[in-house]
Amino acid sequence: MKFIVCKNYDEMSKKAAEIMIDVVKNNPKATLGLATGSSPIGMYNCMAEAYRNGEVSFKECKSFNLDEYYKISKDNDQSYYYFMNENLFSKIDIDLKNTDIPNGEADDYEEECKRYDAKIEANGGIDVQVLGIGNNGHIGFNEPEEWLYAGTHKTGLTQSTIEANKRFFASIDDVPTSALTMGMATILKARKIVMVISGKAKAEVTKILKEGRISTSCPASILHCHNDVTIVCDEDAYNG
Ligand code: F6R
Repeated sequence: MKFIVCKNYDEMSKKAAEIMIDVVKNNPKATLGLATGSSPIGMYNCMAEAYRNGEVSFKECKSFNLDEYYKISKDNDQSYYYFMNENLFSKIDIDLKNTDIPNGEADDYEEECKRYDAKIEANGGIDVQVLGIGNNGHIGFNEPEEWLYAGTHKTGLTQSTIEANKRFFASIDDVPTSALTMGMATILKARKIVMVISGKAKAEVTKILKEGRISTSCPASILHCHNDVTIVCDEDAYNG
């Protein structure tokens, strides 16, 4: 696990975008694993800027998102479907037909999870997976538990995650309490992983990652088992 420590959020975003852009320049048909939340927004802006400057094209890329609330409709402005269109897809030349996000509207969530893993597999896996991290160490919506799931699955959100995400909703009662998320094995199968971490609130969980201990009580710590993880963080997250 390699740490790149940046001065602030903007520098972190630029650095993480550079890594993503390099992957796409080296492999224009790359499959990108994408995340939502506040951490990668700056990185997506930098990727969009590089596209506008003619530095990179995402025309032949495919993408799979980590997760989606369940149930939520695609046109809800808090859905991750909406977020991705707003923050990235509408600003670059990726073909929307080549993007996929777990379907938060699916009636049969088990079928949907199976479909999602099968499609990632059939596409030859993910070349680079972007991750944020929850204050409690969650990645995707793999929350701290005694047991973690390998594949894409439906999960309940912990109270701490509901609290953290209420800032995006009119009230805490509007925050969905479940989600569909890639599992730990789905994430670990990505050939390369880039995690963005920003802010003092993430200093405690960043410290756990720096210590190199592994526990399902901090799902992100399991990334130590992967051989190509780059954590791009700011000084507030790294030093507290
Ligand atoms: C989002 C996701 C979550 C977030 C995490 C951090 O797709 O998978 O694990 O990365 O909740 O969210 P922010 O970046 O808003 O602090």
